Amino acid sequence: MFFNLVILVALFLVGFAPASSEVDAFTYNGFQLGNLSLDGIANVKSSGLLLLTDSETQGQGHAFYPNLIHFKNSTNGTIFSFSTTFVFAIRSDYGILSGHGLVFIIAPQRRIEGALAYHYLGLFNSTNNGDRSNHVFGVELDTIYSEEFGDINDNHVGIDINGLRSVAAEKAGYFDDTDLFNNLTLISGQPMQVWVEYDGSTQQINVTVAPLHVGKPVRPLLSLKCDLSPILDQTMYVGFSSSTGSVPTHHYILGWSFKTNGKAQELSQLPILPRFGHKGTSRFVKIGLPLISLVLLIVATSMVVYYVRRKKYEELLEDWEREYRPQRFKYKDLYTATKGFREKELLGAGGFGKVYKGVMPITNLEIAVKKISHESKQGMKEFVSEIVIIGSIQHRNVVPLLGYCRRKGELLLVYEYMSSGSLDKYLYDRPRVTLNWTQRFKVIRGVASGLFFLHEECDHIVVHRDIKASNVLLDGELNGRLGDFGLARLYSHGTNPQSTRVVGTLGYLAPEHTRTGRATPSSDVFSFGAFLLEVACGRRPIEPRKDDDDLILVDWVYSCWNRGNILEAVDPNLGVDFVPGQVELVLSLGLFCSRPDPSFRPTMRQNLLFLDGVVALPELSALSASSSGLTFDDHGGFDDFVNSYSSSLGYTHSRSPSVTDSFLSGGR
Ligand SMILES: *[C@@H]1O[C@H](CO)[C@@H](O)[C@H](O)[C@H]1NC(C)=O
Ligand SMILES: *[C@@H]1O[C@H](CO)[C@@H](O)[C@H](O)[C@H]1NC(C)=O
Ligand SMILES: *[C@@H]1O[C@H](CO)[C@@H](O)[C@H](O)[C@H]1NC(C)=O
Ligand SMILES: *[C@@H]1O[C@H](CO)[C@@H](O)[C@H](O)[C@H]1NC(C)=O
Ligand SMILES: *[C@@H]1O[C@H](CO)[C@@H](O)[C@H](O)[C@H]1NC(C)=O
Ligand SMILES: *[C@@H]1O[C@H](CO)[C@@H](O)[C@H](O)[C@H]1NC(C)=O
Repeated sequence: MFFNLVILVALFLVGFAPASSEVDAFTYNGFQLGNLSLDGIANVKSSGLLLLTDSETQGQGHAFYPNLIHFKNSTNGTIFSFSTTFVFAIRSDYGILSGHGLVFIIAPQRRIEGALAYHYLGLFNSTNNGDRSNHVFGVELDTIYSEEFGDINDNHVGIDINGLRSVAAEKAGYFDDTDLFNNLTLISGQPMQVWVEYDGSTQQINVTVAPLHVGKPVRPLLSLKCDLSPILDQTMYVGFSSSTGSVPTHHYILGWSFKTNGKAQELSQLPILPRFGHKGTSRFVKIGLPLISLVLLIVATSMVVYYVRRKKYEELLEDWEREYRPQRFKYKDLYTATKGFREKELLGAGGFGKVYKGVMPITNLEIAVKKISHESKQGMKEFVSEIVIIGSIQHRNVVPLLGYCRRKGELLLVYEYMSSGSLDKYLYDRPRVTLNWTQRFKVIRGVASGLFFLHEECDHIVVHRDIKASNVLLDGELNGRLGDFGLARLYSHGTNPQSTRVVGTLGYLAPEHTRTGRATPSSDVFSFGAFLLEVACGRRPIEPRKDDDDLILVDWVYSCWNRGNILEAVDPNLGVDFVPGQVELVLSLGLFCSRPDPSFRPTMRQNLLFLDGVVALPELSALSASSSGLTFDDHGGFDDFVNSYSSSLGYTHSRSPSVTDSFLSGGR
């Protein structure tokens, strides 16, 4: 509405002025009705505020009055007087830091080509800055100090002609009625008014700034005598340019009035700036300090978080492990998969460590993670290479090892998750669910085939070292699968070589293994024998008894056999639902494998042949004849066997298993 009125006024003036005189005038009290020519990031808010730049960094915005303004008398070529006033506000998103400011300009075009943001104020670039052919007059409100343009400070007002090296500049401020200079902070966010006046006859330019509502100071901030006739063309455009650098800054214009050959109209009823909850003077304290504290807090917190996270997910990776990269898991992934190794995910805890269930983040693969504390670096390289070999082999009776991860003092082994858990929980401690004979025989057959594979069929001979029911895992179809290979080896490496410590599980350890500390396929067969007996009898190889006289399973089974009733040893949980011939075969094979002299034990290949009934198992009595001096066929011979067996194991019957357990550090 007001704009229309201005046009009417202009028409009136044009109409009544002498034909040769040209007067241009306009006034914007807010820009909602305005027809400005905008580009860059400039825009007009619905409130009527002209926003030259907003939260964008390295941005520039331009706004021009759309029509040409006549600046020269067409008859004799002198520059007209002109007068303009506008109200601006500069609000930075970051308190004491800001964008680069804004500039009122008189320019030959409404489009500014090739200009740069930053200290070029969206007006020039490095090539054309200062070029006489620019024909640009400007009044800058500069909020950043740039040495390149000889700025006096970071808060000044300057007159620019064809370039950004001001021909005159003063620090921002105004002279009040008593001629006292008052500082102004351009980026205070408070609205301020600027007056730019040029007297064509005296060729004097005056620039005045003051806070809004203070009124126009009598004494201008800048007063410069300068002939603008070589700079200004006959007709020019007037407008504003502004730019931001690294700091997002709102450059607002609230209102603007312009007139040639006369005084610009006073502004009134300007749009309201958005709320800005502080007073200019305490800006630093209210915004700057909290902001700096916030930034410091964020930096400190993120550093703490970073170090805690780094510590939390820290891994150990040595050069020799590079080739095992595909088998390496990220600790972070394992941590996420097991929900931070929380107790709820614990599947079990054995002699070597705890096992957690997990679900891998992206693949949803179910895994079991065995967390083993391991301080020694010794043997680690060998061990890792071995587990990687095992990981690369595939057999339906071997638990797939997917990979590993190492941290300080910790080794993590990642296995495929076996849904039915370990075999021992179906055998011991009054199992809620037990396996029938057919299922047990299938497990035995599976374990035999898995062990045969490790001993003879894969590229390297792999000695398991710790065969027992708790290391046999069952998959969804109740197939027996061997897990936990080689761990005993890691542990026997990790100690003082002078006292070769044998690690395995008491009751499964072959006598020569205890003596020499060397694990062989044959010592595995010994353990397999103990395993056969425990599956068929539902008892552990050594059972503590109240009367201080531990039950040695192999002795007991032997005595049953000796009494002519080996089936007496069968697990009572099986009831009568079993195949007597098969049970007898398994028990006899168990005794056969438990022979003290390794050279008289069958190999896993032979074991498979016996189990499959391809080769008939020799009579135990017949076997005894061929064994080296030890006989099974009379009681005296049996005692010899027991004595030899016991002494080679390094314990006597009366010894408490907890003592031997801790000595051997093997878990059950
Ligand atoms: C322009 O110059 C002519 C000749 O000197 C003069 O008559 C006229 O008044 C001037 N126009 C204005 C607007 O000053
Ligand atoms: C806005 O200005 C342009 C350029 O001067 C003009 O063509 C257009 O008609 C104007 N529009 C209005 C609504 O005034
Ligand atoms: C042009 O005309 C104006 C107004 O009449 C006068 O003030 C000015 O001196 C003249 N300039 C020249 C160069 O004649
Ligand atoms: C500077 O701007 C001019 C146009 O005003 C353009 O022709 C030139 O290519 C620009 N130079 C650079 C270095 O951008
Ligand atoms: C104005 O600013 C100058 C530095 O630019 C400073 O020395 C002076 O004390 C300030 N005056 C007031 C009244 O704040
Ligand atoms: C500029 O200011 C001086 C006072 O400092 C005044 O005498 C002169 O008339 C002013 N010029 C214009 C164009 O306002």
